[in-house]
Amino acid sequence: MQSQEITNNTQGWPVCIGHRGAAGYAPENTLLSIEKALALGADWIEIDIQLAQGQPVVIHNRRLETTTNGMGLVAVQDSLRLRQLDAGQGQTVPNLVEVIEHINRRAVLNIELKAPGSAQAIVPVLQSFLDRGWKSEDFVVSSFDAHELQDFAQAMPEIRRGWLIAGIPLDYAASAQALDAWSIHLHVDFVNTKLIADAKARGLRVLVYTVNEVEDAQWLLDQGVDGLFSDYPDRIRAVIDAWVPEKAA
Ligand code: G3P
Ligand code: MG
Repeated sequence: MQSQEITNNTQGWPVCIGHRGAAGYAPENTLLSIEKALALGADWIEIDIQLAQGQPVVIHNRRLETTTNGMGLVAVQDSLRLRQLDAGQGQTVPNLVEVIEHINRRAVLNIELKAPGSAQAIVPVLQSFLDRGWKSEDFVVSSFDAHELQDFAQAMPEIRRGWLIAGIPLDYAASAQALDAWSIHLHVDFVNTKLIADAKARGLRVLVYTVNEVEDAQWLLDQGVDGLFSDYPDRIRAVIDAWVPEKAA
């Protein structure tokens, strides 16, 4: 399939990001969940990447038990075995190629690297899509693992990178800048006005996960954040669409 003309990911800020697709409505990290997030108005879709025998697959945990009817480590599974598993409602565990083809540029895809070595593993996949007409702006690659981000930056500097933070670093957002990141992705429990201000002063975008309450979403937009990840993208869509920017900090 060749990529279609871009339809949805034209960005308007702030952005509504479907977390693991629309994990509040459909089995997380499946094509059904992704399609649901798109239907609910997500501008971006976030997915998680583990490696199965070195191949990038879309699943959050290291082990199969939490989200599938299988058992054991994802890392040792072969593609045939993975294909047989039920990830909920008859959905399979998709691989990265399937997800990119399914979205087909209808949203920006935020690929969160979970496994060591996953940066190198996604490079040939993303390169093949760039060769087929996808644009670097169709992707954002993020991780809690600064080393994976660094590896990815060296391999594909043209693709935006987000550094995930679940805390408040002593030096605020300085490390994100040292990583040459484009954004920081903050845990909602650790949102801090000094951290937001420091990130903004460094020219970084600020995105917050996982925001499932309308009240939190409204407050965060007023703090000037650039996007919200949610298991319920329709809630965030509604808040963003009703938001009055003049109120922002
Ligand atoms: O990428 C945002 C968020 O997904 C990070 O945490 O555990 O839900 O992957 P987690
Ligand atoms: Mg994630």
